[in-house]
Amino acid sequence: MDIVTPEPTHSSPEPKVPRAVPPPSATPVTESVTTSPQGPGTFSSPGTGEPPVPVPVTIEPPVAAAFRPAGQQSPGAALASAGPAAGQTWPTAADGGAPLTPILTRRWASPRSWTLRVYQQLDGYQALPEALKIEPARITELIKNSGLRGRGGAGFPTGLKWSFLPPGSTKPSYLVINADEGEPGTCKDIPLMMADPHSLIEGCVITSYAIKAPFCAIYVRGEAIHALRRVQHAVNEARAAGYLGRNIMGSGYELEIVVHAGAGAYICGEETALLDSLEGKRGQPRLKPPFPAVEGLYASPTVVNNVETIASVPAIVLGGSDWYRSMGTDKSPGPKIFSLSGHVTRPGQYEAPMGTTLRQLLVSAGGMLDGIPLKFFTPGGSSTPIFTPEHLDVPLSFDDVAAAGSMLGTTALMCFNETVSVPWAVWKWLEFYKHESCGKCTPCREGTGWLVQILRRVVSGSGTMEDLDTMTDAAGNIAGRSFCALGDAAATPVLSGFKYFRSEFEDLVTGRTPPVVQTRQLAGAH
Ligand SMILES: Cc1cc2nc3c(=O)[nH]c(=O)nc-3n(C[C@H](O)[C@H](O)[C@H](O)COP(=O)(O)O)c2cc1C
Ligand code: SF4
Repeated sequence: MDIVTPEPTHSSPEPKVPRAVPPPSATPVTESVTTSPQGPGTFSSPGTGEPPVPVPVTIEPPVAAAFRPAGQQSPGAALASAGPAAGQTWPTAADGGAPLTPILTRRWASPRSWTLRVYQQLDGYQALPEALKIEPARITELIKNSGLRGRGGAGFPTGLKWSFLPPGSTKPSYLVINADEGEPGTCKDIPLMMADPHSLIEGCVITSYAIKAPFCAIYVRGEAIHALRRVQHAVNEARAAGYLGRNIMGSGYELEIVVHAGAGAYICGEETALLDSLEGKRGQPRLKPPFPAVEGLYASPTVVNNVETIASVPAIVLGGSDWYRSMGTDKSPGPKIFSLSGHVTRPGQYEAPMGTTLRQLLVSAGGMLDGIPLKFFTPGGSSTPIFTPEHLDVPLSFDDVAAAGSMLGTTALMCFNETVSVPWAVWKWLEFYKHESCGKCTPCREGTGWLVQILRRVVSGSGTMEDLDTMTDAAGNIAGRSFCALGDAAATPVLSGFKYFRSEFEDLVTGRTPPVVQTRQLAGAH
């Protein structure tokens, strides 16, 4: 199908007068709220059996404990308890909290924010006609200039990825949205699709136009049936309104979007396994090169991008690259959705500029739950080496986190307090990786199995010192020697757990601390 490229009407890919995105207070809808946002959460673990040892970590200024009602709550009460108490406000940047910059999340609190009508009322589908007026290549240039980096974990520059599509290819190019979101702790894409699916769809249409794709697939995690339905409904609304299908907004451009359900496999989040799954095959990673940009879906040039990445595109088209670069750090510009979970008073999604620290985010999130100090955290999901309280002030940008010895990943900040046993957490993560290993390569398939067997012995008190050395050896032979990054991810909890907390593993082996799990509890472990 031909893509008609209108003559450019701008001398630059950016609007001449960058329009700032309106503040989040722009909420003209008055309907009643029908959803119940997550209230204060809980997190349980068997713990070490010992009283918590305080470590010198304080959140300054101290944050008052959140209002936490007992018993079951109505959706209305849950909404009230998820917000600050009457007459009070949550900490702001002036109080030492995160400098919140709701751009992607700014519609989330509006009633029925997922509908086309509300999206249109709040600036929705205003970037699309702007984009359709300019040459596709100039949109790619705009995204390159904005410095937007992929939000799916690796942080690859988005505009650069789009520019890798071979020019003059005789095959059609495709856009594939990775909405698999399977990484433990990662929980930003599904809320985004639930609260604001049209921002993703508008981003898909602009991106598809930029790469001249006539077809886009949104691959949603199989278990997230609620998100699947919501995105499908939004696609239907967009098509009925003329934002999809033939001759979009009179531009001559034509696009179809298909929403596809995965079957709930973590490996299908890996971009090439996702493509195999989308083609109806068993989801296993492909050998790279060729990269998807050259041979992706149906062996055609394909861009695979994360949900948050593509949902960022409309705001960049409206605001311009300078505006986008005014937030975040030099090498990691823009805002980011940080997902706080675990022992946090108010777990949830906090949108702040790249480079915000966990200390600032914790202030905004009401501090650690019940005031029990932080012991360790993941900066970007279970695949990223753990950090300790000494890393509370590391700026959460791709480069700063890497320089401190970990990875920003998906900014899934799982926070664990002093009651949590590190060997227990590592064991739980390894059970996950063993279960999710696709079996294609030996180091990961066999190695995750060995690690789980040894960890089960260690956490149940029957491990040996030799077991600990074997674990180091096995993890070292998985990392860097596996076919895809899942293998590296599986080795990470072991290696980083040993780096900071090896004595906890030794204490379990020597009996200095009691087992953190009973052998009979392992009987059902898979
Ligand atoms: C095991 C594994 C699971 C992954 N899961 C996801 C996922 O759920 N969502 C995602 O966007 N990227 C995931 N990725 C990263 C993708 O392979 C790919 O880098 C990403 O979708 C590119 O999008 P981005 O450039 O917008 O970040 C995963 C990678 C691996 C190795
Ligand atoms: S590293 Fe694991 S998930 Fe990746 S190909 Fe090998 S077995 Fe499959």
